[in-house]
Amino acid sequence: MPFLPHAKVWMNGTLVPWADARIHIASHVVHYGSAVFEGMRCYDTRRGSACFRLDAHLRRLFDSARIYRMESPFDRAAIQAAVLDTIRTNGHAACYIRPVVYRGYEALGVNPLTCPVDVAILTWEWGTYLGEGALEHGVDVRVSSWARTAPNTFPALAKTAANYANSALIKMEAVVEGYAEGIALDTFGYVSEGSGQNLFLVRDGVVFTPPITASILPGITRDSVITLARELGYEVREQPLPREMLYIADEVFFAGTAVEVTPVRSVDKITIGTGRRGPITEIIQRAFFDVIRGDADDTHRWLTFVYPERAAAATAPAAAKAR
Ligand SMILES: Cc1ncc(COP(=O)(O)O)c(C=O)c1O
Repeated sequence: MPFLPHAKVWMNGTLVPWADARIHIASHVVHYGSAVFEGMRCYDTRRGSACFRLDAHLRRLFDSARIYRMESPFDRAAIQAAVLDTIRTNGHAACYIRPVVYRGYEALGVNPLTCPVDVAILTWEWGTYLGEGALEHGVDVRVSSWARTAPNTFPALAKTAANYANSALIKMEAVVEGYAEGIALDTFGYVSEGSGQNLFLVRDGVVFTPPITASILPGITRDSVITLARELGYEVREQPLPREMLYIADEVFFAGTAVEVTPVRSVDKITIGTGRRGPITEIIQRAFFDVIRGDADDTHRWLTFVYPERAAAATAPAAAKAR
């Protein structure tokens, strides 16, 4: 992972050198996973660096904090400003951004309420998540023997560090057996999601994805894909999906900040469709990449420019085409 050792980390309002971005071993988060966080990307668009759906990610961060009764000492506007400041300070054209709100150092016990709530923001440069070629050729995955958490155990809508113990089990099982990823079912046996990405399938031209009641994280990329697919004229159905729908799908693909839109070419060694990126996956993938690269007009205002004055001076795609 390309961490930049000269980078700064934003910690509770101060930019500190990467090597000094430390917390005490007795911090609550170390022992009890008491953190909520976000993962988002800043892209090097044709109008300059821009964060993709910064508002939606920060809203989810605050939703996650609310579910876990965490009162952030910084409001959303302050964290948004801090994200942009950290990117500028670290001089990234494109990067991955990780804000984390966590229970800090005060006392150790299961009750987190006595500990302070601290906030940090890290940035680093991160390319394709599932390896070179995954976006074009797709990946081989298995259905995990681990289920996603049941609805009344860990809240799936919160992006909390604790949930990633489950994700890590799914991911490790897949990797040690030679697969790129694992797909988890929910505790009712319906398709849920990958260890760190949502899932879509296509059959007879209809796009399907599990509903938020299937113990999924409500992905921002998932929401973007649903929006783009509908705009492209596809019917999108959010509905419970039995496992075998994966095997008989014409196309399957993942969606998430890390994987972006990545085709799946086999599940449990059963080839999906023709074993290549499917045509609808490709169309949706292209629409998504057009937005994040700034090649399409940002009609949904999904891009927050890191240098707004430079972006304003640059020509928008529609105006460029009209010339
Ligand atoms: C478990 C899980 N599901 C889905 C997603 C996709 O969410 P997003 O598109 O907001 O990155 C992620 C990524 O953070 C994830 O960790």
